Parts: sequence; C-alpha cells; structure tokens
Amino acid sequence: MAIDIGISEKDRRKIADGLSRLLADSFVLYLKTHNFHWNVTGPQFNSLHNMFMTQYTEQWNALDVIAERIRALGFPAPGSFAAYAELSSIREETGVPNAQEMIRQLVAAQEAVARTAREAFRLADEADDQPSADVCTQRMDVHEKTAWMLRSLLEDGGDVAVAAAGKPGKKGKKSKK
Ligand SMILES: [Fe+2]
Repeated sequence: MAIDIGISEKDRRKIADGLSRLLADSFVLYLKTHNFHWNVTGPQFNSLHNMFMTQYTEQWNALDVIAERIRALGFPAPGSFAAYAELSSIREETGVPNAQEMIRQLVAAQEAVARTAREAFRLADEADDQPSADVCTQRMDVHEKTAWMLRSLLEDGGDVAVAAAGKPGKKGKKSKK
C-alpha cells in the first residue's frame, strides 16, 4: 500500500538517506565506545570504563529510533557492516590506543555525529518532516553534550583555576568603607 503522509517520495528518500548516514555514524560511534569500554587502561580506568558504558548504552538505544524512523518513511534501514563502512563519516579503530587518545577519538566522533544529524535535520526541516527533525534535534543535543563532557577530560582545569584565583581579589572590596 502506498505511503501518504504528506511528504513526497522524493523528499522521503532524501530524508531517509540523511538518516541512514546518521544511523551509520551512530553505529560506528556505538562500536567505538563499546570497544574502548573493554580496552581502556590506566589510572582513570574505573571512571572511563563506567562512563563509556553509559555512553554506549544510550547510543545503542538511539540506533533503533533512527532505524525505525527510516522504515516509517518507507525505506529499508541499513544494517550491515558493509553499508555502515560506506555511509559513515567516522573511521573505526582497529588498534588499542591509550586512554587520552580514546577520549580524543570519542570527542571527534561525537562531533561528527552531531554534524551528520544537523545535515539530516536540514533535509527534514525543508520537507516539513517534524518527527525526523525531532529525532535529529535530540541526537544533536546528546552528542554535543557528550562531546563537551569528554572534551572536559582533556583539559587540566588551568583556566578555571586562574579564573577562580582572580575572584579572591574582590574580597577586599567586600568591606565598603
Ligand atoms: Fe561491560
């Protein structure tokens, strides 16, 4: 039976293609994060091992939402490593990098998925497809927030310390006269 939801087939195809790229990026990020959960080592082991678990679990659940939106638009959802390798903008990790490099790779990958979601959002928005736009918005929010958290691990807190050190100077003004 033909689909008649008020979006042309041409537009549905365009959006489904955008969401397929988002699904591929999401799967590669999922796998990378689970890989790092297994293989991370070093003094930050416990916090990174657990943080990566939270992230890959959220990511795993998102795959289903994206894939099923593609199905609702009337197109098959890509579900093979071959398809993901072709569609994804993220390179998979085949070695075992150190913890810092893992975090760096995850920041870059989270940002890459955010960019892909933003592209898919534009396609959905142009075609008046609110549910797809909603999926993209939610994914952008998660990836940008997760990128911030991971990026924070790479900073030594020096800037914050300097800013905080500046404040006590104002203490003197406390006693006005
Ligand atoms: Fe585990």
